[in-house]
Amino acid sequence: MKKVLITGGSGLIGLELCKQLIEKKFKVICMDLPEQLEKNKNLFKKVKKNKNLKILNGSIFEKSLLNKVISDVDAVFHLAAMLGVKRTEDNKLKCLEVNVKGTENILEACVSGNIKHIIFASSSEVYGEPSHNPINEKTDTQGKTVYGISKLAGEEYVKAYCQIYKKLNYTIVRFFNTYGENQVSQFFLAKIVRNIMSGSDPIIYGDGQQVRSFCHVEDTCRALIEIVKNKKSYNKIFNIGNSNEKYTLNEVAKIAIKTLKKNNLKIKNLPFTKSDRTVNREIFKRFCDVSLAKKTFNFQPKISIEEGIKRISKNLNFHNDW
Ligand SMILES: NC(=O)c1ccc[n+]([C@@H]2O[C@H](COP(=O)([O-])OP(=O)(O)OC[C@H]3O[C@@H](n4cnc5c(N)ncnc54)[C@H](O)[C@@H]3O)[C@@H](O)[C@H]2O)c1
Repeated sequence: MKKVLITGGSGLIGLELCKQLIEKKFKVICMDLPEQLEKNKNLFKKVKKNKNLKILNGSIFEKSLLNKVISDVDAVFHLAAMLGVKRTEDNKLKCLEVNVKGTENILEACVSGNIKHIIFASSSEVYGEPSHNPINEKTDTQGKTVYGISKLAGEEYVKAYCQIYKKLNYTIVRFFNTYGENQVSQFFLAKIVRNIMSGSDPIIYGDGQQVRSFCHVEDTCRALIEIVKNKKSYNKIFNIGNSNEKYTLNEVAKIAIKTLKKNNLKIKNLPFTKSDRTVNREIFKRFCDVSLAKKTFNFQPKISIEEGIKRISKNLNFHNDW
């Protein structure tokens, strides 16, 4: 049985990853900030008695705590980060501190703990507005936002440490629009479903022709489980997303209206000036090619956008605080 540490374990992806790892009989240390663990305390109540799960209040800036917990784990999923384009643009230094310096702290702890494998959560934002789609891992990186740049810097740090410390192997995972229950409501699908469920017209900024591929968090975490189990994933970068579920934002809103049977509602397209987004930072067309993940560990996402929307609507556990 493997023992793993998840940083940011009480976030959208961390929570689902904890659940799937426990089901697969891994031992898990789920580390997150106290305020984030507190928000999800009801979710943790259900699994708290599981002897394979340890919930740990802590920050990736607490070096002595990190050194202590990391000493007997086999692998580290480093998910802790500052997210959200507007939030990170408004707090650029904080974003760099958490996403770059925080990653360096984890790498230092991995080295002192003789860890074999770090899985680093990167983002499709590293591709910026790509020159072509679908994007594979060889597509040029050209981050457009401080968040994208912080993830690129994190990736470079991870590769640098693994170059110097040969025992440490990396897998860099670039997530493409992961969504699901328990997501903060500022993210597109959480916001749209919340609007529709409350009887309001879904609002989309811009003309709604922006294209994305949407991956349910359960599928994202299935990929992470394969990665931690499979040495073939060592020292590689993978796009993880759902290339079958590629839509414009207008299409997603229409599917959500239909799926939730609120046919009286109409999409409202508003100018960017009315939103927390800007034309400069917007990515207009971005969808993934995940054939490398398919070839390496048979990654095949299963959850359709309709199914994902239904799941969110049944579990309106939104966090509204940023
Ligand atoms: N959800 C997506 O679509 C998506 C896309 C690309 C990349 N990612 C990356 O995947 C990872 C997980 O994303 P998510 O969607 O679960 O986000 P999330 O915001 O739900 O989770 C991030 C977690 O990190 C924690 N965290 C922040 N600062 C911390 C600190 N100093 N110490 C410990 N924990 C800290 C937060 O409390 C939060 O629980 C992040 O690294 C994110 O950048 C996510």
